Amino acid sequence: MTRRTFVIAIDGPAASGKSSTAQMVAEKLGYLHVDSGSLYRAATAATLRDQSDPSKWTEQAVLDAARPVELRAARTSFYPLLEGRAIEDEIRGGEVTDNVSRVAQMPRVREWVNQKVRDAAKSRNVVVDGRDMGTMVFPDADLKIFLVADSRERAARRLRQRGTPASQQMLDDETMRITGRDARDAGQTVPAADSVMIDTTGLTQQEQVEQIVTLSKQRSG
Ligand code: DC
Repeated sequence: MTRRTFVIAIDGPAASGKSSTAQMVAEKLGYLHVDSGSLYRAATAATLRDQSDPSKWTEQAVLDAARPVELRAARTSFYPLLEGRAIEDEIRGGEVTDNVSRVAQMPRVREWVNQKVRDAAKSRNVVVDGRDMGTMVFPDADLKIFLVADSRERAARRLRQRGTPASQQMLDDETMRITGRDARDAGQTVPAADSVMIDTTGLTQQEQVEQIVTLSKQRSG
């Protein structure tokens, strides 16, 4: 079936600013934001509730635990619910972050996420962000963006988001955590051949958003 909605796919590594940029682009264009990582996180949170020892997790156990997860449309974004409840704080917690890469390696979990994201885009114009939106999920996206940024800059942004003054040691530790996550997610994080690569190292968030909005207006022209 031909898709009639407009899809902007934004991919890139951890802490490259994908989700906040995607959210702002969606608000500017009146589209809805879909954060595909939030679904991997919701599946992980649901599995942790059932089985607190991740070494015992099987792909089937994750799929069973994730069954009550749904993606709900709000004013500017889709967000995951578990058994009808919002789980934003739970999915951003350390335990989920430490275990989500393993869940994201499971092929049937990837199919489950991809189907939910595609369903969201059936009836709404969307800005989707993740690792493989422009390659696997929407190879026909109207605009594909791949965001990159220096790992130390990404670490500094993460620390600023947390709002605590950061020492050199904290910056070193966070940079190591980010490069570790890059390595774990490397298999999924591949730019589409027809994506526009934007290096955000020296850009403000406003500048990134403006570039994407301008490209999108040119495409929808
Ligand atoms: O972007 P994030 O940190 O919320 O992503 C959570 C995890 O899910 C991370 O390990 C990368 C993975 N992920 C993925 O493999 N494919 C996506 N489309 C989105 C996220």
